[in-house]
Amino acid sequence: MQELPAAFATSDIEAWFRTYSPRLHGSPNEFYAYLLESEPLSGVADAGYWVASRYEDVNRILKDPVFVRESRNALPEPQRQELPPPSEEWKPVGELLDNWMLFRDPPAHTRLRRLVSHAFLPRAMDRLEPKVRGIAEYLADEMAEASRPDLIASFAFPLPVIVIAELLGVPPEDRELFKAWSHVFAGVLEGGDRPAGFALQAKQAAEEISAYFRDLIAERKTAPREDMISELIAAHEQGERLTEQELVATCVLMLVAGHETTVNLIGNSVYCLLRHPDQLALLLARPELAASAVEEALRFESPVRMTSRIASADYEIGGRTIRQGQSANVILGAANRDPAQFERPNVFDIERSPNRHLAFASGPHFCLGAPLARMEGELALSALLSRYPRMRLADGEPNWRQSLLFRGLETMPLYL
Ligand code: HEM
Repeated sequence: MQELPAAFATSDIEAWFRTYSPRLHGSPNEFYAYLLESEPLSGVADAGYWVASRYEDVNRILKDPVFVRESRNALPEPQRQELPPPSEEWKPVGELLDNWMLFRDPPAHTRLRRLVSHAFLPRAMDRLEPKVRGIAEYLADEMAEASRPDLIASFAFPLPVIVIAELLGVPPEDRELFKAWSHVFAGVLEGGDRPAGFALQAKQAAEEISAYFRDLIAERKTAPREDMISELIAAHEQGERLTEQELVATCVLMLVAGHETTVNLIGNSVYCLLRHPDQLALLLARPELAASAVEEALRFESPVRMTSRIASADYEIGGRTIRQGQSANVILGAANRDPAQFERPNVFDIERSPNRHLAFASGPHFCLGAPLARMEGELALSALLSRYPRMRLADGEPNWRQSLLFRGLETMPLYL
């Protein structure tokens, strides 16, 4: 049986969610291994939530319609309309989040997702590919100019912002605004204890970004272009369209969902390769393995650590009962290292096959942007490794982001 890491005790699981233990950020896999073996479905019954880590349980929770995203849908029918409205402070943020498909259940989720999914069809990805390749190559070339290149600041962070801006049709000079807004929204999603003044910062960001997209939408309505905003305005399916507020919210979702995650995918992929020189050598010898290397990095260091659902009815799982209204947190990063699903789960193997990881979740909310994320990851590795085959980590361990939700590096200094 795995020893419980000294920093944690069973009763501390709730505290772990709140305090983001620094040790966890550095070596979460130790903790995941403990959960998988000893507490695969840990209940913090008094606090009303559960933590599931095994692949099978996580997959079941994500796929079963008993588990919902909207808390009102978990209430018994007569109480559903009685949720209090958000405070004035959180209203602008709430108006965006309430219109994100990510936080909706059917029928709203089905409608929103259907209307947006065109943007990620293979034809759209083929159209975007040369642009993404060009951006990756340009940023990789630029890295050579820096005296002490940092992969995150110079490459992994700007790449997805530029790609999303390109996809949406945002003018290049406005990209800087995007970076700041995206970070504030990552903090909104993070939850937990927030720094003083955060609510005000979030309110301002929500108001600014909403105004920004409302203006851009108005422009595209009068003069459509070949970009996602114009397509979303035109998108209609079986007589349905996105409302103005849904359009604005969807643009913000694209930015946040597509940025904060893909930075981590690129950083984590490079990190895994540099930490496993045999796998790096294999990829350099066989560049056609880039796509499979990205899949393995998604499994091995999953950029989104966890997500959650709420039980809309009592649910039996793993010999326990999750009660109606309780939340089920699922640890994607742990499920992706479950020995019951993956042979040698703690070995980084870029030729792993099959590799049915849950880094993009599963079920109805399976990541809509997965084809784009995969493309960005693959083209990023190709651009970097073809230029800098001898790149290595500069002294010391890179810094992991202090985030419960995202697994990614803050900085990653390199010798090219
Ligand atoms: C490595 C990069 C990425 C990872 C690891 C990732 C991960 C995820 C996960 C785990 C979910 C499901 C969350 C849940 O069920 O609670 C999700 C949903 C989503 N992702 Fe991604 N994502 C990535 C990149 C992207 C990109 C590039 C875009 C778009 C530009 C995107 C757009 C979305 C959207 C729209 C949803 C909501 C889907 C729905 O609710 O039906 N993601 N993503």
